[in-house]
Amino acid sequence: MDVKGRVALVTGAASGIGKACAIELLNEGAMVSICDINAEEGEKLAETLSTQYGKNRVIFCQCDVTDYSQFEESFHTTASAFGYIDIVVNNAGIMNDRFWELEVDINVNGVIRGTLLAERFMATNRSGQGGTVVNIGSNVSINPYASVPIYSATKAAIVNFTRAFGHQYHVDSTGVKVMALCPSATDSKLLGDVSKQLLWPRYVEAWQRDVASSVPQRAEHVAKALIHILNEGKSGSVWLVEKDQPPREITFPKH
Ligand SMILES: NC(=O)c1ccc[n+]([C@@H]2O[C@H](COP(=O)([O-])OP(=O)(O)OC[C@H]3O[C@@H](n4cnc5c(N)ncnc54)[C@H](O)[C@@H]3O)[C@@H](O)[C@H]2O)c1
Repeated sequence: MDVKGRVALVTGAASGIGKACAIELLNEGAMVSICDINAEEGEKLAETLSTQYGKNRVIFCQCDVTDYSQFEESFHTTASAFGYIDIVVNNAGIMNDRFWELEVDINVNGVIRGTLLAERFMATNRSGQGGTVVNIGSNVSINPYASVPIYSATKAAIVNFTRAFGHQYHVDSTGVKVMALCPSATDSKLLGDVSKQLLWPRYVEAWQRDVASSVPQRAEHVAKALIHILNEGKSGSVWLVEKDQPPREITFPKH
C-alpha cells in the first residue's frame, strides 16, 4: 500500500510510538486522525502538526479505547473530516499489571474494538473501500517477561487475534488486511515508576533480569517500521522491530 494520500487513524497518538507513527505517516503524505484519551497533549500535537503539514491533514479526536461509543465517534469524525479511512493503527496501550483489568481492557479489548470498527468503516462488504489495520504488540508478545505476566498475556493475545483476523478467509470478503508490529524496548512514557507498574513490588528483581540486555530504540524507528510493513507486509503477518534494526517478519509453524 502506498501511504501517500491515505487516511490513517492512530490510537494513543498523543505521545511515544503513536505520536512518531502519526508524524511518519504525515511525512509520507497521509492524512492523520490523532486519537487519544489525553486531550491536552493530543490537541497541542494536532495544532503543531497542522501548522507544519497543513490544517486539512490533521485532526484530533478525544477517545478512550475502552469506551466503544467514544471510539466509534472518532471513526465517524475521521470519516466525515477526510471522506474515508484507509489505515487504522491500534497503538494505545499501558503496562500496569497492578491495574490489570484496565490493562486488559485497553490492550486487548481496545485492539478488538478498533479492529471491529475498522472492519465496519473499511470493509468492502460494508460501506468501505478496503484498508489495513496494524495492531501494536511487543517483543513480549513472542517472549513473555516473567515480571509482567498480565501485560505479556495482553500482548500475546494481539498476535493470535491478528493472525486469525488477518487470514485470507477474512481478507477475501472484507478487503481489509490485518498485521501486527511488535516493538521491543522503545523510548517513551510507557515506563514511569516501574515498581508501581508491577503486580508486586518484589517483581522488580525479575524486571531487572528481563530488561538487562535491552537497549531502547527510538520511537521514530518503530514509525519507519510501520511504513515498511504498510508497504510490504502481507495480511496476518507479525513483525518484530528491535534495537533500531530493520523490522523482521516472525515465522510460525504451519499447520
Ligand atoms: N515503549 C516500549 O518499550 C514498548 C515496547 C513494546 C510495545 N509497546 C507498545 O506500544 C504502544 C504505545 O506505547 P508507548 O510506549 O508509546 O507509550 P506512551 O505511554 O508514550 O503512549 C501511550 C499513549 O496511549 C494513550 N492511552 C492510554 N490509555 C488510553 C486509552 N484508554 N484510550 C486511548 N488512548 C490511551 C496515552 O495517553 C498515550 O498517549 C503500547 O501498546 C505499548 O504496549 C511499547
